[in-house]
Amino acid sequence: MWTSSIKLAFQAVWASACKVEASTIMVPPELTFLVGPISFSGPYCQPNIVFQLEGTIIAPTSSKAWGSGLLQWLEFTKLRGITIQGSGTIDGRGSVWWQQSAYDDPIDDESKLIVPLNNTVEENPPIPALRFYGSFNVTVTGITIQNSPQCHLKFDNCIGVSVYNMSVSSPGDSPNTDGIHLQNSRDVLIRSTNLACGDDCVSIQTGCTNVYIHNVNCGPGHGISIGSLGKDASRACVSNITVRDIKYGGSGSVQGVLFSNIQVSEVELPIVIDQYYCDKSECKNQTSAVALSGITYEKIRGTYTVKPVHLACSDNLPCVDVTLTDIELKPQQEQYHMYDAFCWQTFGELTTPTVPPIDCLHVGKPSSNRIQNDHDSC
Ligand SMILES: *[C@@H]1O[C@H](CO)[C@@H](O)[C@H](O)[C@H]1NC(C)=O
Ligand SMILES: *[C@@H]1O[C@H](CO)[C@@H](O)[C@H](O)[C@H]1NC(C)=O
Ligand SMILES: *[C@@H]1O[C@H](CO)[C@@H](O)[C@H](O)[C@H]1NC(C)=O
Ligand SMILES: *[C@@H]1O[C@H](CO)[C@@H](O)[C@H](O)[C@H]1NC(C)=O
Ligand SMILES: *[C@@H]1O[C@H](CO)[C@@H](O)[C@H](O)[C@H]1NC(C)=O
Repeated sequence: MWTSSIKLAFQAVWASACKVEASTIMVPPELTFLVGPISFSGPYCQPNIVFQLEGTIIAPTSSKAWGSGLLQWLEFTKLRGITIQGSGTIDGRGSVWWQQSAYDDPIDDESKLIVPLNNTVEENPPIPALRFYGSFNVTVTGITIQNSPQCHLKFDNCIGVSVYNMSVSSPGDSPNTDGIHLQNSRDVLIRSTNLACGDDCVSIQTGCTNVYIHNVNCGPGHGISIGSLGKDASRACVSNITVRDIKYGGSGSVQGVLFSNIQVSEVELPIVIDQYYCDKSECKNQTSAVALSGITYEKIRGTYTVKPVHLACSDNLPCVDVTLTDIELKPQQEQYHMYDAFCWQTFGELTTPTVPPIDCLHVGKPSSNRIQNDHDSC
């Protein structure tokens, strides 16, 4: 088959590149390669390999070509210094899988509305398009990653990640298509990128530290989120995250640690902490949540369509040291029914007057010391 011979060719090229420090693999412009799941793998490769992507790599659309139990489509693993650059495109051709996830996911009300076009959709919807695992000094720049079946770009167990001047592009109604997913990774810089997708633009999961995100256009997409906070009672241990200078369009939410200089436009909930987050139709009033503290929102301006502020913290682990500074949020259209700011078990301070006034925040600290307990030892 054509696909498998291309895979063999990529593997052969990789085997030789792996032996030479700072070697370059070239995917030439104006060519399109159909490639099945493939791993470009160390750990015995020489450092600083460059993958120069000028052409297009497309994914198969049949489940046979994907196989089952995979963790990604294109994987780079256990490398020291790996750069993917160029003006080329990685196209996951995910639409066939998005329709199928409408079948599989009866709990997601929105995706129920997507009517499958025929009954022969494939089984086993596949996984992230491009994944880096267990690597040092990873750079992704220039390229476009589009229409992934699910997440577009994932970093797991990486140290030293730099993503800039690149794009993610998939429709706002494509289910579970996160832009960038970070997990157990540190020293991460994401800047000057356009992220358009159907789920979180950037999702920062457990085990991440020293993450700096700035000058990102997010939309369509659900914003930048931290943790699957309290989801399935899991712990999200995340520290030193900075997010600044973000432009959002469409529906969205923001959750995190320091959010600074954020311009929002027609965002449903511009400022959100939701310890009750769940993606099932019936959510319990969860009590085992991740402790959240030291969250600052500063210079958040623009328009909202539902509620300016939604800070829903847990009864046994209130959010503390939540600081709101220089907030100016206006309803998108006066005639809509809008909700007032909502806070539940949220403690902290307002350092400036806000628009609208936010009087639901408890000034100071919770009376009993419920913050430090076994839940938040990371
Ligand atoms: C990562 O890059 C830095 C800076 O260029 C370098 O000092 C370091 O040795 C690299 N790490 C590895 C594991 O190659
Ligand atoms: C229906 O499924 C077949 C077989 O997978 C596919 O070739 C065709 O494009 C699909 N039609 C639509 C409208 O999605
Ligand atoms: C960004 O990437 C594109 C290729 O997609 C390239 O043409 C352009 O020069 C890059 N811009 C910067 C500032 O590096
Ligand atoms: C926090 O992360 C930034 C990079 O985003 C880094 O420069 C800084 O040293 C980190 N702070 C700590 C205390 O590790
Ligand atoms: C959680 O439960 C309490 C008590 O039953 C209730 O008052 C509170 O509104 C609930 N929290 C949320 C965010 O719904």
